[in-house]
Amino acid sequence: MPSIPRPDTVLITAGPTYEPIDAVRFIGNRSSGRLGVELARAAHAVGLDVILALGPNTVAPPSFPERLRVDRFRTCADLEELLLDLWPGHADVLVMAAAVADYRPKQPAPGGKLRRHSEGLTIEMEATPDLVAACARRKKPGQRVIGFALETQAELMSSAADKIRRKGLDAIVANPLETMDADEIDGLLIRADGRHESPGRLSKPMFAAWLIDRIMRG
Ligand code: CTP
Repeated sequence: MPSIPRPDTVLITAGPTYEPIDAVRFIGNRSSGRLGVELARAAHAVGLDVILALGPNTVAPPSFPERLRVDRFRTCADLEELLLDLWPGHADVLVMAAAVADYRPKQPAPGGKLRRHSEGLTIEMEATPDLVAACARRKKPGQRVIGFALETQAELMSSAADKIRRKGLDAIVANPLETMDADEIDGLLIRADGRHESPGRLSKPMFAAWLIDRIMRG
């Protein structure tokens, strides 16, 4: 008997956040959301109910007639609101693949558009809340929270392990920086108890199937 119950519903977040500077500009990142979308497909294929929270400018989500719900977000604040709604009440496992901004403009220019001035521009930024850490604090017994981390090869293991502790995660998928917006992934799954494993370099659909299988096994 597995010690962790088989999950019924998985909540997957994917894609970048766009943090507004003014009405037409934002600070974002290169995340395509592709791995998250493949995770949703793979989870659906093994019979899980899937909630996919997907950021802006990502690949198209799958559309299945049942067992898949797609919610969209744009900013870190939108995603925070979605997660407050969905976690811990609506899923057993949270897979936090979203590339959430660490900083956002403190005060987006009200209305309209910032005008060009010859003296340059300084934008004051504030730290965003750590959403996955907050979700880990809210989780109930039997629920699991899995984070993602983009790291340099040299710090892959140590920094990801530190994030597991700092954010209270059950596991983390550590990827080299080159993974963002790439076709393949060379991910390392590290668990809170220190166990770690990697399937080697795989296409994103194959890596997604591997990771969902690991999640199903507990
Ligand atoms: N994350 C989050 N909220 C944030 C930033 C990150 O929930 N404001 C989540 C990401 O979705 C990911 C995990 O935290 O699952 C690790 O993200 P990462 O950016 O690597 O972690 P940071 O704590 O921001 O560390 P770093 O200094 O390396 O950016």
